[in-house]
Amino acid sequence: MTTPNTTWTRSEGDSWDIVSSVGFTALGVAAMRALETKRADRLVRDDFAEHFVREAAEPSLVQLVENPEAAEQGAFGPPRHMGVRSKFFDDFFLSAASAGAKQAVILAAGLDVRAHRLDWPQGEVVFEVDQPQVLAFKDKVLAGLGAVPKSDRREVAADLRDDWPAALKAAGFDPSVPTAWSAEGLLPYLPGAAQDLLFQRIVELSAPGSQIAVEAFRGAFDPSAFRQIEEKYDPEGSSPFAKADISGLFYNDERADPIDWLGERGWAVRDSSPIELSAQYGLEIPELPEELREISEKMRYFVAGLPR
Ligand SMILES: C[S@@+](CC[C@H](N)C(=O)[O-])C[C@H]1O[C@@H](n2cnc3c(N)ncnc32)[C@H](O)[C@@H]1O
Repeated sequence: MTTPNTTWTRSEGDSWDIVSSVGFTALGVAAMRALETKRADRLVRDDFAEHFVREAAEPSLVQLVENPEAAEQGAFGPPRHMGVRSKFFDDFFLSAASAGAKQAVILAAGLDVRAHRLDWPQGEVVFEVDQPQVLAFKDKVLAGLGAVPKSDRREVAADLRDDWPAALKAAGFDPSVPTAWSAEGLLPYLPGAAQDLLFQRIVELSAPGSQIAVEAFRGAFDPSAFRQIEEKYDPEGSSPFAKADISGLFYNDERADPIDWLGERGWAVRDSSPIELSAQYGLEIPELPEELREISEKMRYFVAGLPR
């Protein structure tokens, strides 16, 4: 069991483990995927997610996965957002791989187990980039389960604020091969300059035919809005995420809009909001309070592709 060492203050070059700071967000996302997996009408199935939560033994998240019915009673109905998000990225990877992207790079992979879960084409190389402690925890759990990847999985322990392309190439990444990239649940955790550099590097490393799927906020983004919504709708702080002050981990300094930026560089972009995706996946859209609807509309899921 990992000893909780919870800190929520960001600083340049900070690092973290699975139960503290940004690492905890990977565990929280896994807990939400575990809940989605338990549903009869699940959008995605991730049988590994609950194992991560149990191994980390963070009490509030263990309680969450053990009481899925409690989550259903939340202020905004069943929490399906992570199912929607996971399906969007699952579909993206399978479609990009079948269109010829022979390598996939999952930036900030966290406890994402797509290398093990998805039915990749034979020989697909899947790189998972994240902080060393996060990947070490993931490895320990996967090894304990005797899990076998369905791809040629390569771990890349690197900080995305540093020279991650060097680490990626050292792991066997080939910039001449079309690549499927993803940035899921990542951008708000990067300072603006690091986000801009991330996209510049992706473009430099992308052969014709490469594609990228991204979760991004459009326009001005105020992290304190999340805190205000939490305080208003969960005044007792009963959500397992309330104590974590996730919004305190977000950066909102200036950065380029990746949709515009990639579009200007010849990438064809198509984007959707989580509400549009939910409707596309056949989910009932709950009546959302105005402030949540506003945030939801600013959140975009987009795929961008570079012509061959
Ligand atoms: C919210 S989790 C999302 C994980 C995964 N993409 C998913 O959706 O399950 C955020 C992830 O970003 C990683 N991360 C954030 N900033 C990073 C950085 N500077 N370098 C490497 N990883 C980073 C964290 O370690 C964590 O795993």
